[in-house]
Amino acid sequence: MTTNHLAPIHVAILGIGTVGSGVFNVLLRNQEEILRRAGRAIVVTCVADLDVARAKTLVGENVRVVNDARAVISDPEIDIVVELIGGYTLAKDLVLGAIEAGKHVVTANKALLAVHGTEIFAAAHRKGVMVAFEAAVAGGIPIIKALREGLTANRIQWIAGIINGTTNFILSEMRDKGLPFEVVLKEAQRLGYAEADPTFDIEGVDAAHKATLMSAIAFGIPVQFDKAYVEGITRLEAQDIRYAEQLGYRIKLLGITKRAATGIELRVHPSLVPAKRLIANVEGAMNAVVVQGDAVGTTLYYGKGAGSEPTASAVIADLVDITRLHTADPLHRVPHLAFQPDAMSNLPVLPMSEVSTSYYLRLRVADETGVLARVTGILAEAGISIDAVLQREADEVGGEGSMQTDLIILTHDCVEAKMNAALAQMQALSSVLAPITRIRKEELA
Ligand code: HSE
Repeated sequence: MTTNHLAPIHVAILGIGTVGSGVFNVLLRNQEEILRRAGRAIVVTCVADLDVARAKTLVGENVRVVNDARAVISDPEIDIVVELIGGYTLAKDLVLGAIEAGKHVVTANKALLAVHGTEIFAAAHRKGVMVAFEAAVAGGIPIIKALREGLTANRIQWIAGIINGTTNFILSEMRDKGLPFEVVLKEAQRLGYAEADPTFDIEGVDAAHKATLMSAIAFGIPVQFDKAYVEGITRLEAQDIRYAEQLGYRIKLLGITKRAATGIELRVHPSLVPAKRLIANVEGAMNAVVVQGDAVGTTLYYGKGAGSEPTASAVIADLVDITRLHTADPLHRVPHLAFQPDAMSNLPVLPMSEVSTSYYLRLRVADETGVLARVTGILAEAGISIDAVLQREADEVGGEGSMQTDLIILTHDCVEAKMNAALAQMQALSSVLAPITRIRKEELA
């Protein structure tokens, strides 16, 4: 092999948990093929982890193990620092410290980049190093590379993704078994799909971090997590999943970013998706991302969004990319956010009130004459067009002799502000007996 004479690239892994051990094992198992692809061997020289004894059992005697990551990031022997600690504080110090020391960085830390990406990428640009983050979005799916390189010819129109496996598992189980959210969440925790503190996943924060990164890369805007609209799945009820199904839809937690007339939509919320779309059939903990580009049309990327070796696959792809740079012209690298830093756009991320989408509404109403007319009258007056109406038999909803029923309405697109005003009027009707359920709907056509 002609590449054997080149010195190996030395890597330090900070935090050797599930993903870190996957990186170590796959690098070892596939070392020969990786060498042939990268042009140089990629070797883990050092691991920093608080649990030194456990780390040693994972990596063996030939790898230096330390408990202080700060000691590693400026080590002259290290070429690339892999940050797998997570969180904002220590991880940020270490990433900025490594950049300052002239190291390339690979990270799976979506929270860090979605919140502090602007500062981190600027520092990396100044120092002429890469911060690579394929593993930060949709785990093993190479969506960053697809957006940044494979689709670079396109004007991206929108991206919609199932980018959180935990919530997709919960929604799949709720639909399959007709169980309520709390019951399925407990089951997901028992099976290890959901963490002991599942807040970031179930409240949509993790998906919003990932959507923020995709939005920046797709539209050439800075990372702006603080502008994202974030709504999780905690308030979803099994009956809405059932009604949606009767109308030909599935409910998915989507991360959406879209080019609109006046700015960029960036939002995470439960969405009705037509059951016939491929993405509506992505079940369990799997991830999928749909990208609509003007030239290519619709493309779909599907795979495992988490787990030891799927995420390691993405981390190692970044290690190979950086290794290849060592023989290439550093001025002709792919920019961190796909667009040249001096060519970023100042298109605003739109407030949710200006976002346009269609809606599923469920109203618990008194089963009396004229209710439907009053509700649809409010929508008509607001200029909101109705797509479908489903009225349940009162007996089916509240048992025999019930005087209450459910009214389910699908609308066509309208701006959120208009819908909010109409919802307030409907809610004030004396025949509307409970808070109205509103779920957004994406045709993804
Ligand atoms: N907790 C995430 C998920 C995986 O459930 O998809 C890491 O981003």
